[in-house]
Amino acid sequence: MSKEAQQEQQVRDFFDKHAPAYKTKYGRTDTFYEYFFYERLHAATKEINFAKKRVLDIGAGTGSLYDFLQMNADVQEYTAVDISAGMMSQSNIPRQQQLVGRCYELDYPCDEYDLIYLLGVTTYFDPKECKRVFDFIQSKLSTGGMAILTFTNTAGLDIKLRKLSSYPAKLLKGSEKVMAQDFKTYTYTLKEVLQMLPEGLEKRRLIYLNHTIFPFGKILPGPSVAVAKRIAKRLSNGPLLSSLSSDFLIFLSKVN
Ligand SMILES: C[S@@+](CC[C@H](N)C(=O)[O-])C[C@H]1O[C@@H](n2cnc3c(N)ncnc32)[C@H](O)[C@@H]1O
Repeated sequence: MSKEAQQEQQVRDFFDKHAPAYKTKYGRTDTFYEYFFYERLHAATKEINFAKKRVLDIGAGTGSLYDFLQMNADVQEYTAVDISAGMMSQSNIPRQQQLVGRCYELDYPCDEYDLIYLLGVTTYFDPKECKRVFDFIQSKLSTGGMAILTFTNTAGLDIKLRKLSSYPAKLLKGSEKVMAQDFKTYTYTLKEVLQMLPEGLEKRRLIYLNHTIFPFGKILPGPSVAVAKRIAKRLSNGPLLSSLSSDFLIFLSKVN
């Protein structure tokens, strides 16, 4: 088995294994995860007009975007893609709207989509895979359409501290956390992402996400989240906010 196939299998096995408990574990009952996941979903949807749009959700997982759209939008089409059938089986997404596999190897009900989402997924993509997925997005997005993607931020202090702590976690084994798994996870700088973009995809907007710092987000979630929200209000996008953010969200539009 190639290294790439092995990585994909390990990621799929990880999510299949954790799928039954995923929604409960990362739901609204945990202060930190509520902040992390719902800030991301809010930022990724708040200024988007969904009316009559065709939406493709790559790495749909347990369907948080689908649930949001059901409650708040009137889309024309929604298609979910994930390598983990187990994750999508825990979602409310109708079976016929679920596709299992790599996004660039599947047959779709629509020739093109107006909105393509990739939330919390690039962490499992090496740069080669990122490039393949970007090329796919460029080919599948309608002209004037928007792709909305998140990346784990290499420049973030939170990520630097998580990386340091993942080595003892790996030595101790038994951890259920993504960073302690045998498969690799990837972080990116904004510059690296922009350099990988194919012609025709242009950055429109950037939002830095999650301003808690590891491990305080988990051990002191209430105060950490309160400080994080204050940081988001006070700092504008720039190097300081970047260094205080674990992720960034980028809006790309297709210009031709
Ligand atoms: C952290 S979850 C995010 C789920 C969802 N997008 C959300 O925001 O709640 C990551 C998801 O990406 C999926 N995934 C990982 N690698 C993938 C790939 N190469 N293609 C499609 N999905 C992938 C995983 O199976 C998992 O369901």
